[in-house]
Amino acid sequence: MSMKIPFFNNKHSEESLYYPEDNTPNHIAIIMDGNGRWAGKRGMVRAAGHKEGVSTVVKIVNAAVKCKVKVLTLYTFSKENWKRPKTEIDFILRLPKEFLQIYLPELISNNVRIEVIGDMENLPTYTREAVQYAIDRTVDNDGLQMNIALNYGSRHEILHAMKEMITDINNAKLSLDELDERQFSGYLYTAGMKDPDLLIRTGGEKRLSNFLLWQLAYTEFWFTDVLWPDFTEKEFLLAVEEYRKRKRRFGGI
Ligand code: IPE
Ligand code: IPE
Ligand code: MG
Repeated sequence: MSMKIPFFNNKHSEESLYYPEDNTPNHIAIIMDGNGRWAGKRGMVRAAGHKEGVSTVVKIVNAAVKCKVKVLTLYTFSKENWKRPKTEIDFILRLPKEFLQIYLPELISNNVRIEVIGDMENLPTYTREAVQYAIDRTVDNDGLQMNIALNYGSRHEILHAMKEMITDINNAKLSLDELDERQFSGYLYTAGMKDPDLLIRTGGEKRLSNFLLWQLAYTEFWFTDVLWPDFTEKEFLLAVEEYRKRKRRFGGI
């Protein structure tokens, strides 16, 4: 009979956080907020904040890989963000292509699998093609799953799921009597994924802004005033560390 020897782990060294522990969050979702304010404070145009925000994405994806997080979901562009000036929207929607042109090889070598959650229709062709290429190129990777939430809105997602579900019920592919939460989840963009364990929101606001309303039912929240372009690996690890100390009860005792 073999006996598992506990892994020696110095809790006080930052390096220790990189080793998988039982209570490492499997799925972390991030509302990357504060790009515009970061730029404003420096007298720069908002686009400069979005560009700087991409550098933070690179750092945090690498940190998540090191921490052995399984899924990282990044809120990149919401359905409601179409209310912004066209120039800003165009700039944001060009960033996935720019980001992937530079970093896709690194993501591939880190065994990252890219996925998109959101309404891919109505996105510019250059955005759709760039992410589709990345999805196809990384489909066999089994390391970190990086979900890019693009043109994502949770209420839209739920409504879209309901419509597809009703179609399946009408076509007798699904039984209304047997319908349960697990089956409903299968109609969401996040089908097959476990719910986020930890939600991080940067930029100081304490709200969900229509992000993953169904999936965050029992998620732990961690808010920081740090603006997304200033957010570092250190803060990311702080959030993970605090998560590890939380006691999740899921309604139990
Ligand atoms: C988050 O930063 C990025 C997107 C919403 C695309 P913001 O652009 O919302 O930045 P603030 O909140 O105005 O500072
Ligand atoms: C949420 O940030 C959306 C993204 C980070 C992509 P917003 O800046 O759009 O949120 P609100 O408008 O302050 O709620
Ligand atoms: Mg904002």
